Amino acid sequence: MRLGRRALCVLVLLLVGASLGLLYARTRDTSDRPIPLPLWAPLQGPPRPELLGLAPEPRYAHIPVRIKEQVVGLLSANNCSCESSAGIFHLPFQRQVHATDFTEAFDPEELKAASASREQEFQAFLSRSQSAADQLLIAPANCPLQYPVQGVEVQPLRSILVPGLSLHAASGQEVYQVNLTASLGTWDVAGEVTGVTLTGEGQPNLTLISSGLDQLNRQLQLVTYSSRSYQANTADTVRFSTEGHEAAFTIHIRHLPNPRLYPPGSPPQGAQYNISALVTIATKTFLRYDRLRALIASIRRFYPTVTVIIADDSDKPEIISGPHIEHYLMPFGKGWFAGRNLAVSQVTTKYVLWVDDDFIFTARTQLERLVDVLERTPLDLVGGAVREISGFATTYRQRLSVEPGAPGRGNCFRQKQGFHHELSGFPGCVVTDGVVNFFLARTDKNSSWMGLAPFGWDPAQTSWWITRPK
Ligand SMILES: *[C@@H]1O[C@H](CO)[C@@H](O)[C@H](O)[C@H]1NC(C)=O
Ligand SMILES: *[C@@H]1O[C@H](CO)[C@@H](O)[C@H](O)[C@H]1NC(C)=O
Ligand SMILES: *[C@@H]1O[C@H](CO)[C@@H](O)[C@H](O)[C@H]1NC(C)=O
Ligand SMILES: *[C@@H]1O[C@H](CO)[C@@H](O)[C@H](O)[C@H]1NC(C)=O
Ligand SMILES: *[C@@H]1O[C@H](CO)[C@@H](O)[C@H](O)[C@H]1NC(C)=O
Repeated sequence: MRLGRRALCVLVLLLVGASLGLLYARTRDTSDRPIPLPLWAPLQGPPRPELLGLAPEPRYAHIPVRIKEQVVGLLSANNCSCESSAGIFHLPFQRQVHATDFTEAFDPEELKAASASREQEFQAFLSRSQSAADQLLIAPANCPLQYPVQGVEVQPLRSILVPGLSLHAASGQEVYQVNLTASLGTWDVAGEVTGVTLTGEGQPNLTLISSGLDQLNRQLQLVTYSSRSYQANTADTVRFSTEGHEAAFTIHIRHLPNPRLYPPGSPPQGAQYNISALVTIATKTFLRYDRLRALIASIRRFYPTVTVIIADDSDKPEIISGPHIEHYLMPFGKGWFAGRNLAVSQVTTKYVLWVDDDFIFTARTQLERLVDVLERTPLDLVGGAVREISGFATTYRQRLSVEPGAPGRGNCFRQKQGFHHELSGFPGCVVTDGVVNFFLARTDKNSSWMGLAPFGWDPAQTSWWITRPK
């Protein structure tokens, strides 16, 4: 893993290196790789779940409903606003609400631009953080029960309207009955439909009985679920049954993911990425100040205002200073991983570029190309190629895998040279699990590369790492 560091060489990101071109051509001929698939198919449909309306489907519009205000009041309107109690006369000891309107810090033009780029970043975050497993999916009735298969979510101790419940029974029955049972929450209805008998409102078991199928189905559209135990990330497997049929589905109980948004996102068509705003360069040094100074000087030739963060556990530290430089001194000999974690912890930009202290930037070190990959894919990390003083260049591509072993014997961790497939849309880029010690990564603390153990891989949080082979 520490290949770059041991090399007594100048390491360069090669975007069009001839030697690597050959290396690439060779691996290309010998491997029988699968056809590259598009890495990322963004979810279709609205990324934000639409608020389910209390309004009836047209065919049930004639059925009267008596709305239960206290239950409706518990449902989220997806339209919160922050209002302070300022201006109102306050009694002593009365709790006051303070709200700060940050939009006032902007002038109107600025606010418009900031809101637009914030929304763009948020949508990018959503398409990155959500998968098909989060989407609402409703099983059409092939038994008489229709219910949501997945995608029902509630925050801890909050309430939701349960989508998609319905009974498709043969008409002409004397009485229709369905039961709902939950274990981590309770059921209620946002409105009572005339002609439907409810048992167990506010309880984990709810029974709905009616002599009219339409009435029962209208009532099912108004069923709510309330989470009753505070658990930050769990699911309630609930049951929905009628005479002779039972279905189960899960209601995911969790907090809304907390988006991390950074200004600004992708530049307008044709413009360049602002590397100083997007990238911080981080490195760890130990007793090699001449190399470090050469690295900084080379960075400044191409990126004069990008922030450089240095973690230093040298015995007798020298002063490294200058504009846009942060030098952090550590206790002597804390080691490489401690240094990496310290340096990365101080990064506030969207991306961090890791370099070893004996690397040198050249005109071919184009961070814009690396940023472009991370802006346009859900990958966590993109690696470059480096060239040694001898002219030998490497991309250090590794495929890593874990296979379960016999009980009590642990798992097999395998490391192989190579890559999985090409990255569609980025000619010359491939998807792989391990890259050379020159990479750009998302700073997002959830990104899987952050927890790198000395072996460099946490199989529980596999991500796609990619490297540029030429
Ligand atoms: C959202 O709330 C604002 C005020 O807080 C209100 O003017 C607006 O009509 C609401 N929109 C919806 C769709 O409820
Ligand atoms: C709810 O229903 C389930 C399954 O029918 C049953 O096991 C449980 O005892 C019931 N709970 C209550 C509180 O009635
Ligand atoms: C619904 O629950 C009630 C009470 O627990 C039970 O008597 C009835 O048989 C159940 N009906 C169905 C259709 O599951
Ligand atoms: C962060 O990582 C944890 C553990 O891997 C995962 O459960 C959670 O969904 C992730 N959060 C986001 C916002 O991606
Ligand atoms: C790029 O970002 C830096 C730091 O945020 C900022 O000072 C600079 O003005 C930006 N440059 C352009 C051309 O927007």
